[in-house]
Amino acid sequence: MKQLQAAGPQMGSVKPASSARQILVSRSAIASRVAANPGLTVKEDAAPLFTSFKIGKYELQHRVIMAPLTRCRAPNNLPVPDMATYYAQRASLGGLIISEGTVISEQARGYPNTPGIWTAEQVAAWQPVTQAVRDRGGVFFCQLWHVGRASHPDYQLGGAAPVSASAVPVGDGSVVFTPRSEACPFPTPRALQLDEIPGLVQQFVDAARNAIAAGFHGVEVHAANGYIIDQFWKDNTNLRTDAYGGSTANKARLMLQVLEAVAAAVGEEHVGVRLCPYNVWMDATDGIDAAVDKNVWLMQELQQRLPDLTYVHMVEPRVAGGNVELEGEVGHSLAPFRQACGSPFLVAGGHSRASAIAAVSSGQAGGVVFGRFFVANPDLPRRLALDAPLNPYNRDTFYTPGLEGYTDYPFLNEQQVVVSF
Ligand SMILES: Cc1cc2nc3c(=O)[nH]c(=O)nc-3n(C[C@H](O)[C@H](O)[C@H](O)COP(=O)(O)O)c2cc1C
Repeated sequence: MKQLQAAGPQMGSVKPASSARQILVSRSAIASRVAANPGLTVKEDAAPLFTSFKIGKYELQHRVIMAPLTRCRAPNNLPVPDMATYYAQRASLGGLIISEGTVISEQARGYPNTPGIWTAEQVAAWQPVTQAVRDRGGVFFCQLWHVGRASHPDYQLGGAAPVSASAVPVGDGSVVFTPRSEACPFPTPRALQLDEIPGLVQQFVDAARNAIAAGFHGVEVHAANGYIIDQFWKDNTNLRTDAYGGSTANKARLMLQVLEAVAAAVGEEHVGVRLCPYNVWMDATDGIDAAVDKNVWLMQELQQRLPDLTYVHMVEPRVAGGNVELEGEVGHSLAPFRQACGSPFLVAGGHSRASAIAAVSSGQAGGVVFGRFFVANPDLPRRLALDAPLNPYNRDTFYTPGLEGYTDYPFLNEQQVVVSF
């Protein structure tokens, strides 16, 4: 057994792990080592995933990225210490983690026990969590989330109706879970009035500032999966006839205002955005042709307005939200957006080790975002590097309280491998 170590490039302003656990790797597993990942053994075929990759001001040291994953373990919207363990387990030197959806206001809530980022108490409660990731040398972005109509009056001040682009309820038969986890039909939302929109933009700005104060390296504006920005963006959820409805430019107006205002507040190089052009989740959709046209336009618009945006993060067409995986590949792809995009491009949804290597090797993605495999494999980058077997995920504990299915997924057997990040 030989302990592997090497000097490597420094990581921008990211603090390296102060006390990395040592990993021992069986000699047979050693195929090659990649200079950008000191101490990490990488099988040769996985080398494309383990090259450095610059996003904003951060030099990532590999391209295996943790997806935003709501875990519903933050009672009263307050992060808890177990979250520090959970994220630290999944952090790696120069690895990007995108936090679970983090609600930006009381109005923004729509799921039980999701963490918030609008009060001083929440900011303070996030600090040990972000510090734990920093201590492991990770790069941590906070996903800023406003669910819009995907809520219930029990989350809203005074039991009011949730807000959206238009008074169109989620109509796909899915249900909303109240703060007491009771399943209810989605209510009909109230269309935001024009003079309320600056206040909505401000919620994102305040939350972004708070996220930086909480120790995050940056923020990801959640403009995907049928939540409020997507409700303005998608054709079937936005029936407005004012400056925020009708044309593509009008439907993009809220998203672009939020991105520009957040970038002005915390710096463009600290802001990413998540989009899902072909989404059907939460009943917010565009037809395929419209999705292509609108999102190519959007990529060009972003390139002009926010040339230093940290990244664009897109969900693959085969995945809807977090739960439904459509069968196989569908006949359209993210390629047109990748081509039109001027920012680092991340892809998410249904990726395997092989598809991730292919996506990066072919230039279709700069980085690959993993969700469910990261839930079940705290040391996912290492496992992919070594082509080690993956723990299966347990869907039953995705959103349940407690540590089961949260911090108890095993690392690789230390006989076999060892931590080197
Ligand atoms: C438990 C769970 C929670 C999720 N929470 C979020 C979330 O908070 N924000 C978000 O944008 N996507 C969320 N998603 C979607 C994932 O980020 C990802 O796009 C999806 O799981 C597909 O990737 P995968 O095939 O690698 O799992 C969630 C998915 C799962 C399984």
